Amino acid sequence: MDRELLIEAVKRQMPEKRYRHVAGVVDTAFVLAQRFGGDPEKAWLAALLHDYAKAWPTDRMERIIRTEGLPSELLDYDKELWHAHVGAWAVREELGIEDEEVLDAVRYHTSGRENMTLLDRIVCLADYMEPSRAFPGVERIRELSEHHLNEALVAGLDSTIAHLLEKGRTIFPLTVLARNDLLRQIRSANGASEAQGG
Ligand SMILES: [Fe+2]
Ligand SMILES: [Fe+2]
Repeated sequence: MDRELLIEAVKRQMPEKRYRHVAGVVDTAFVLAQRFGGDPEKAWLAALLHDYAKAWPTDRMERIIRTEGLPSELLDYDKELWHAHVGAWAVREELGIEDEEVLDAVRYHTSGRENMTLLDRIVCLADYMEPSRAFPGVERIRELSEHHLNEALVAGLDSTIAHLLEKGRTIFPLTVLARNDLLRQIRSANGASEAQGG
């Protein structure tokens, strides 16, 4: 499917305002991919598709989770998380996207996961910091993203976790695993450079 058709297919799934967010994520992910050695074409595609199911009715998402073998524990957590898994399922079914790396980046863009790929991290971070995003701490995330992908992403995950704690909501375990894993990676990278640099 060519780019224009993909864009039209995505636009049909959501109101115009949501598409403006998607367009911001597309531009941001493309820049981040260039900055951090990712694949800009895959970043473009995964970002375009990341919120494919975001505006779908909750009961439609729930039905798909139940009937298409998606992780049923999703149903025990925030509905916010559902569109990511349902979206990955939907872009394969409806648009014929088969690239597992792209599908994973869509699937884990909200929660994160352990061992996030470079593409996972780029899409997740772009989703936090695209230009129309405005929440406490977003400027710090943008600053960190100039040089430090993992640090910027941890700051994003921290803002999510802090928000959930403040609201008394449950925290999806993958988000905690993603954060711990990134912190370990940051620590070992810093340790390695200290060891080298003395
Ligand atoms: Fe999303
Ligand atoms: Fe998004």
